[in-house]
Amino acid sequence: MAAVTESVRLETEGDIALVVVDNPPVNALSWHVRQGLFDGINQAVAGGAKAIVVMCDGRTFIAGADISEFGGGAPQAAGLPEVQAAMENAPVPVIAAIHGTALGGGLEVALCAHYRVALGSAKFGLPEVNLGLLPGAGGTQRLPRLTGVPKALEMMTSGRHIGTDEALECGLVDELAHGDLSALRTAAIGFANRAIAENMPLLRVRDRNDKVEAAKGDTELFAKFRKSIARKTRGFLAPEYNVQCVEAAANLSFEEGLKVERKLFLELMTGPQSQAQRYYFFAERAANKVPGIDKDTPLVDIQKCGVLGAGTMGGGIAMNFANVGIPVTIVERDQEALDRGLAVVRKNYERSRSITPEMVEQRMAMITGSTDKADFADCDIVIEAVFEDMELKKTIFRELDQICKPGAIMASNTSALDVNEIASVTSRPESVIGMHFFSPANVMKLLEVVRGDKSSDTTVATAMSIGKRIGKIAALVGVCHGFVGNRMLFMRRIEADRIILEGATPAQVDRVLFDFGFPMGPFAMSDLAGLDIGWKAENSKGETLRDLMCESGRRGQKNGRGYYTYDSETRAATPDPEVEQIIKDFATGKGIEQREVSDQEVLERCLYPMVNEGAKILEEGIAIRGSDVDVVWVNGYGWPVYRGGPMHWADSVGLTEIVEKIKGYSALGGRHWELSPLLERLAAEGGKLSNYSN
Ligand code: 3HC
Ligand code: NAI
Repeated sequence: MAAVTESVRLETEGDIALVVVDNPPVNALSWHVRQGLFDGINQAVAGGAKAIVVMCDGRTFIAGADISEFGGGAPQAAGLPEVQAAMENAPVPVIAAIHGTALGGGLEVALCAHYRVALGSAKFGLPEVNLGLLPGAGGTQRLPRLTGVPKALEMMTSGRHIGTDEALECGLVDELAHGDLSALRTAAIGFANRAIAENMPLLRVRDRNDKVEAAKGDTELFAKFRKSIARKTRGFLAPEYNVQCVEAAANLSFEEGLKVERKLFLELMTGPQSQAQRYYFFAERAANKVPGIDKDTPLVDIQKCGVLGAGTMGGGIAMNFANVGIPVTIVERDQEALDRGLAVVRKNYERSRSITPEMVEQRMAMITGSTDKADFADCDIVIEAVFEDMELKKTIFRELDQICKPGAIMASNTSALDVNEIASVTSRPESVIGMHFFSPANVMKLLEVVRGDKSSDTTVATAMSIGKRIGKIAALVGVCHGFVGNRMLFMRRIEADRIILEGATPAQVDRVLFDFGFPMGPFAMSDLAGLDIGWKAENSKGETLRDLMCESGRRGQKNGRGYYTYDSETRAATPDPEVEQIIKDFATGKGIEQREVSDQEVLERCLYPMVNEGAKILEEGIAIRGSDVDVVWVNGYGWPVYRGGPMHWADSVGLTEIVEKIKGYSALGGRHWELSPLLERLAAEGGKLSNYSN
């Protein structure tokens, strides 16, 4: 065994050389890995090896380029194309032995082996699209040559990881091994010995043209595919560039295709979208880390979960736990409400295309309904999701305090209430925490974990870790009205409601935000949620626009009339002159003169107060990092990830520009236009919101 570089070593087993990568945590292609692979292959050949196995130690095969090296800074070393050429042109069979995930540049390396052997549990993918990129090391030209064009298009534009069943079927893998890493090693060596004995050909993927030729000149195939992804990829550059590369693979020679790949890769790599998406990749991983809480912090062992309330949120929360095999007890105030809640859960499972009827029964069997809170006695965590009413929540937490076992976590899904006040009624505020899920709770990725003043480290660490276990992206926030996400949303809402009185229409505001990249604007969102949430006819005094809208029977999508009118069949939204008249009359009554409002003003007035509030949230220590604010907005509210999140976006616009504009708009009045001192300071110092950390 000989070290080639700090992360690559060369071993021999009889006639076979093994080039082994050991670069934790994910064997990314850092400069010393590339250099080690290059030198390792060449040394193996020079040393007379009759076959070469490329494999990795640790949890995975190479999971891609080292993203932290993008943007420069790494020492000069062999480039990936040189490594690939050394493998592809080696005079002896090269076999990639794959476990864990062969992703991005990792899969591109494997595609340069003559053969691929994988553990049954391995996964394969080209996820560059999720970083606003395309595979830049020949992957766009090699993958379609192995798998055919339709499969490559699907994999590259979705970034989806495929399992070994699919990989075998599409030709990505030649042989499977079962067991652990040493079983893979044995299988790869066995394959290599057979390759030598049988004089197997040195198959180079780049030379295989039969599968791409099937798509040559087939413009319809590409047009159809583009149409099929148009909605999902709206606003993103990378998916289209990936398609163009596959088109090049079908229509051009391998070398010409590589040139197209290089040009488009560089364009993406130096553009703002990929910069935002790469920033976001690390933002999401940073959010999971809490300063002061390390790996050794003891966790509560969550074996059983309780959920109180089987309404909109409770049902979805219960599904999250059932989905990962954690039994749930769900308690409602009476049998009727319980039956209704459980029926909705069942319906949601039945509607899900990825779940078989058998799985529906398995998941439902994980959820036990009850009308007696005493059934929470053996739960390790109880999440309360009853009505948003402080007195009710306090009563419930007093009861939970009596019922829950010592050490159990008592969480509230409140969307805005004071978690400290809720905790104060219990004898164990250290076990109380907010776990703010987003609707629909079984779908939305974000979880705001709300740390109370007295929440213990164990409680915080457990809530964060259970969030990850149920597939959420958890961000730790502090107690304030609306926490991070809703607090910033309120600011946008205030200005959106104001600006339509000044002459912008709801449709204009929604269009501007939709074009920015949000899935929908605030008025379409209100229509979806229902304009009458929290509104009662008997209390309505016609004092607000909402009162007037509800009084004239406009309740939102549910009755086909809200800020828009909805087609009863297609549910298509059309702006309604009646709404514009209601708004106009209301504005006139308030003495507000209507005028033409530019799209730019709409954008600034909706988004700059959010940036300002985000900065206040940071200076109050409600969020740990600027990037956490971005994680909340991308995952909870559909902020387009190719703009990084509100903090990253603000940095890209320029903080000085935003500060000047906020000062200009402050004459409009309102707390949301009072400039955050932190924002002002960072602008003056040339600092950034996205890398601000408390
Ligand atoms: N480069 C640098 N660091 C990476 C990395 C990469 N490609 N992939 C993961 N990491 C780091 C993470 O930042 C994290 O670091 P931390 O512990 O300090 O926070 C650590 O590895 C573990 O990552 P995860 O927390 O994500 O671990 P999981 O086990 O949940 O997931 C994974 C593992 C599936 C490999 C996931 O990390 C992943 O999807 N990584 C990105 C894969 C990717 O996008 N590859 C393509 C890169 S671009 C490329 O290859 C360009 C080429 O075409 C030229
Ligand atoms: P909901 O009205 O749909 O459900 C509440 C459920 O709690 C009802 O089924 C009700 O019967 C039950 N309930 C009330 N009192 C009870 C008691 N004493 N014992 C047992 N069950 C009781 O409300 P929703 O929307 O699910 O909201 C629940 C909580 O989640 C609220 O605090 C809300 O602010 C929060 N939230 C709501 C979001 C949403 O979009 N709906 C998003 C995030 C948080």
